[in-house]
Amino acid sequence: MTTTTQQHWWKTATIYQIYPKSFCDSTNKGTGDILGIISKLDYLKNLGIEAIWLTPIYQSPMVDNGYDISDYYTINALFGTMADFERLLVEAHRRDIRIIMDIVVNHTSTEHAWFQSALGDKSSPYRDYYIWKDPVNEGVPNNWQSKFGGTAWALDETTNQYYLHLFAIEQADLNWENPVVRQEVENIISFWAEKGVDGFRLDVINLISKQQDFANDTNGDGRRFYTDGPRVHEYLQDISKRVFQKYGSVTVGEMSSTTLEHCQKYSSLDGKELSMVFNFHHLKVDYPNAEKWTQAPFDFIELKRVFNHWQTGLSGNGWGALFWCNHDQPRVVSRFGDDKRFRIESAKMLAASLHMMQGTPYIYQGEELGMTNPNYQDIEQYRDVESINIYDIMVNKQGVGHNEMMAILARKSRDNSRSPMQWDSSENAGFSKAKPWLEVASNYLHINAQTAIADVNSVFYFYKQLIELRKNLSIITHGSFCDLLPLDKHCYVYLRETATQQLISISNYYAETVKCKLPTQISWDKSQCLLSNYKHAFKVEEESVLLKPYETRILLIDK
Ligand code: GLC
Repeated sequence: MTTTTQQHWWKTATIYQIYPKSFCDSTNKGTGDILGIISKLDYLKNLGIEAIWLTPIYQSPMVDNGYDISDYYTINALFGTMADFERLLVEAHRRDIRIIMDIVVNHTSTEHAWFQSALGDKSSPYRDYYIWKDPVNEGVPNNWQSKFGGTAWALDETTNQYYLHLFAIEQADLNWENPVVRQEVENIISFWAEKGVDGFRLDVINLISKQQDFANDTNGDGRRFYTDGPRVHEYLQDISKRVFQKYGSVTVGEMSSTTLEHCQKYSSLDGKELSMVFNFHHLKVDYPNAEKWTQAPFDFIELKRVFNHWQTGLSGNGWGALFWCNHDQPRVVSRFGDDKRFRIESAKMLAASLHMMQGTPYIYQGEELGMTNPNYQDIEQYRDVESINIYDIMVNKQGVGHNEMMAILARKSRDNSRSPMQWDSSENAGFSKAKPWLEVASNYLHINAQTAIADVNSVFYFYKQLIELRKNLSIITHGSFCDLLPLDKHCYVYLRETATQQLISISNYYAETVKCKLPTQISWDKSQCLLSNYKHAFKVEEESVLLKPYETRILLIDK
């Protein structure tokens, strides 16, 4: 589907992320599957999205829900068959919806045949596919920490060497210094591109090149020695030249703890590396001192500062993904909005405030319904390996109280976004007739797709309008960016501008009515309101406007 003339279709498109395990179960076993996705394509077409990013559906022991791949060429039986996948491609393409696959090549599952051959055998041809180090002082090779808690090294007792795992112990890091590994990666991606897949989301791709001295980090957890590492740009340019450019694939790289300078390169407009990047800095504004496992309120001024930095820094240099939610993040309406009193208003405000920026918006399943965190009360309700590990570390080893930890998980756990999609008010929210693998949020009786579709004022139709605006108004894609009130404590007011138009996004991020003093250089009286979450007219008096709780406005001015 991707031809050179359509090369930049993704600059005006919105992409929808599906977490297949929690999307729709066609066989009533409690987990979602590919046929379930096919049954919902018309729903997605109605929303207006142009591509689907599927989180991994390859064969996997599912320790990290598919981010631990044991065979890159086989569909996980839990999700269906290769024939089902091929049908998904046909059915999606028939509706002009593209399919983006998740490629996880920083690491494989320890159940992968390569690792199984390498384990315990220094002479295996696959030994050098992974990163092995001798013990230091009879212990781990260095102090690098796993992103899921604890040391990043695990001992292979037979050979008395450690392998590196930046994530779970069952996810062994690949050795990208080995050219044969790089060839394997090209083969994998080519295989899926040949099948007709339109693009790839590259998991933690900025971690693939490690500094080869594997030094102890006296000043941190080791990340500075492998994040945006020495050869990462070279590796990406090679794959891009040999695979992505050949197939015209759209690519989005997940960049962990990255910098703007590196992302300008990763997504440079000459297309030498990737089409666009995900960065996470705006989702760390509620991590005080970089600590995720806390319950702090978010820092609004910092949120704006981060967005402004990336909007202005990528403009003309690269391209970013715009997102609030994904399968690793809590639900945005529970996080930066008010999921009780102002759920609908704040869900719409957050959407509008993000979608008028430059970049490609991603909607995570259920976000378009204003789905909330499920608010689990019991540790037994959690399934996520990261949440279970951190509970063990903080409660059993660091002495944090159980209740405090449960409150933290209820805000920060990745399972907050993984609870099943809420389709209707029937049992298990219409996701499955069997007991779901992870509990449905109890609010599904009123928050569900069926209810949303029946109500023209729902969050769903608001997203639909945002998607439509991006397709029709080129200022959203091309306009310059300027924050008009960077120090305002409640409102985010930014301007997009071209030679002929101005577009202004005004949002109150708080649950009270606020008076927002507007900059005088804008001809507010000439503005036309394109979209709002309130019905009353936009009225500027004495250079100010009163904004209701979570009020948002998109204004257009023809010069
Ligand atoms: C990415 C994925 C996450 C996974 C991790 C390891 O951050 O989004 O779900 O656990 O990589 O593959």
